Amino acid sequence: SWTTTSVVEEQVAAIRAQVGTKRAICALSGGVDSSVAAAIVQKAIGDQLTCVYVDHGLQRKGESEQVEKDFVAATGVQLKVVDAEERFLTALAGVSDPEQKRKIIGREFIRVFEQAQAELVAEAGAEGEEVAFLVQGTLYPDIVESGGGTGTANIKSHHNVGGLPDDIEFELVEPLRQLFKDEVRMVGTELGLPDAIVQRQPFPGPGLGIRIVGEVTKDRLDLLREADAIAREELTAAGLDREIWQCPVVLLADVRSVGVQGDGRTYGHPIVLRPVSSEDAMTADWTRMPYDVLARISTRITNEVADVNRVVLDVTSKPPGTIEWE
Ligand code: XMP
Repeated sequence: SWTTTSVVEEQVAAIRAQVGTKRAICALSGGVDSSVAAAIVQKAIGDQLTCVYVDHGLQRKGESEQVEKDFVAATGVQLKVVDAEERFLTALAGVSDPEQKRKIIGREFIRVFEQAQAELVAEAGAEGEEVAFLVQGTLYPDIVESGGGTGTANIKSHHNVGGLPDDIEFELVEPLRQLFKDEVRMVGTELGLPDAIVQRQPFPGPGLGIRIVGEVTKDRLDLLREADAIAREELTAAGLDREIWQCPVVLLADVRSVGVQGDGRTYGHPIVLRPVSSEDAMTADWTRMPYDVLARISTRITNEVADVNRVVLDVTSKPPGTIEWE
């Protein structure tokens, strides 16, 4: 019968047999799948695994720390952090078109990851150990959707930051290939990962870069990070994390409206709340959440986030609206 303990034991044995004494690398995003995949591989081969975390500066508040501190503390994994914020912001300067943004973020991610990977291969080479494996958090539904292919790094660009390079010469380690999302969460808990990681709601690979309607700048990211943190805090406090599939918080950076705050007239930006209920993100309905929670979020965001003087609620289903605004 299926138990998380037996899944972990089985996978640990399989990974040891597959990898042997060689080395593996894994791109960590902070998401559930890559975190659980990395944790299980770490349990199997320890320091033969190195995780790479590309800090692109598009994360939500506290997310980098969650990877760099909490995940490392929980797993003891060997982590290489690449601070690439400036590089991503430079590449995104002047760009407002959503598809352009996605392409740029995907492209830069691949470049940064390849560079980190090349450095690891060079370091390991000096010690005579071959880096031959790439760990991916592919789930069972991903395989079914993509036609059952095996053994290649051909991942839908929608689901990872740009996907990883096609010409990669690594063999894949995919310890979650037989699991559904809820099973992955159980395995993560079994491996000692904190709820903040294991129960995390979906978050797009391109991050806050596609939640700023308009050009992405550091100031706008900081503003959106504050507004998003407030919304998440209040939703969690109200016990709505399970009921709500996800709640994108969007900054309409090119829109301004007149308001009155403190001593007088303001001319600030609107923040959009997009709480949705869904089974699989293919379709979604806007969540009929309690007015008093909406009121608290609105009051706090307009009081605490400079340059925001209006909070609006998105009441569109999917279809016709996508969950994300870009
Ligand atoms: P949409 O906006 O298409 O989103 O209704 C459906 C689900 O996918 C997530 N999403 C992404 N996830 N990379 C990702 O890893 C992406 O480029 C991306 N775009 C959207 C979105 O958050 C929702 O859960």
